[in-house]
Amino acid sequence: MFHKKILITGASGFIGSFLVEEALRSGYIVYAGIRPGSSRNFLQQEGLRFIQLDLASRELLERQLVHFNRLEGGFDYIIHNAGITHSRRKEDFQLVNDRYTRHLVDAVMAAGKPPEKFIFISSLAAGGPGDPLHYKPIRIADPEHPLSAYGRSKLSAENYIKSQPGLPYIIIRPTAVYGPRDKDFLKYFRLLGKGIEPYIGRGPQMISLIYVKDLARATCRLLDCGRLRASYLVSDGVAYNKKDLSRCIRKILERPTIKIRLPLSLSRAVVWGTEKISSLFGRLPFFHSEKLREIAAPNWLCDSQELWKELEIQPDYTLEGGLMETSRWYKEKGWISPARTRTY
Ligand SMILES: NC(=O)c1ccc[n+]([C@@H]2O[C@H](COP(=O)([O-])OP(=O)(O)OC[C@H]3O[C@@H](n4cnc5c(N)ncnc54)[C@H](OP(=O)(O)O)[C@@H]3O)[C@@H](O)[C@H]2O)c1
Repeated sequence: MFHKKILITGASGFIGSFLVEEALRSGYIVYAGIRPGSSRNFLQQEGLRFIQLDLASRELLERQLVHFNRLEGGFDYIIHNAGITHSRRKEDFQLVNDRYTRHLVDAVMAAGKPPEKFIFISSLAAGGPGDPLHYKPIRIADPEHPLSAYGRSKLSAENYIKSQPGLPYIIIRPTAVYGPRDKDFLKYFRLLGKGIEPYIGRGPQMISLIYVKDLARATCRLLDCGRLRASYLVSDGVAYNKKDLSRCIRKILERPTIKIRLPLSLSRAVVWGTEKISSLFGRLPFFHSEKLREIAAPNWLCDSQELWKELEIQPDYTLEGGLMETSRWYKEKGWISPARTRTY
């Protein structure tokens, strides 16, 4: 079999490391795109190749890609997954998620051997939340109205990619992703582990979720099928309300919890205060007003039927199955207390 070469940027991170695993399993020659200080903790697989790319410099990137093309014949596929989801400075989102994506796209095109497919890992945040009254699931063709600098940076990168006439791109917008190695859901696990079940606002909220292995499988499958120059939403297809996630984690941790409901107005006031204090130091607090608007939006339900239909597969994991695996991994690594985690 002729092995195709694939570059995965942001390979050292949560989603990137699972993309690497899935691409290796699918038989590709995988190049983990990392930077000098990137951790290789989750990149220990035999046969995995590494390439240090400087996304900050378009010129250097082009030279690196020209060199690679000459030596190795170029990448057949690129999954551009590197990005930031948190930052203490708003302008970093635009820089890393948008400008560095433009650098990579420009360098790939200028280096003269574009890949057969260029997959960009965007985010549901690029389109913004769905209709808050009737909870109609978000569709890929809906008009975009991102609520945060993060969402705006992803949307801007998407638009740049779409504006490139010769680029065989696929854009995917995953909803919130959970799984082993993730540090965002970990915070929620830890709070529930301490018996605290926090809610912001009183109204109902609908969300979509995707287990990281299902996301990696769908992404790699898109290399073989799926339309070119198309965008897809990715979720496990189930509509969850805001209590489903905590109910499921609580059950796995076998931990009684006390529900703490923070009224939206109080949350806004607290966030406003911390933002003011942080701005004295020129920083953005971890939990800032845009994050609050995103977290509190009533409808983050998305319609991913189109994707699974085109791929002719279904997600492997239920929420309980995915969270169980996640919890087991957190426990094994000592990220959460080993006590009272249910096993089957
Ligand atoms: N997690 C989610 O729920 C979610 C949902 C939708 C979309 N996404 C998107 O999925 C992608 C991966 O997210 P993640 O959750 O896996 O985040 P993550 O664990 O923080 O991983 C981010 C990866 O991007 C790399 N990166 C960050 N800044 C970089 C820079 N300036 N130059 C080169 N590489 C850089 C990181 O490298 P280092 O290890 O060297 O820092 C890391 O490998 C992102 O594009 C994110 O927007 C995530």
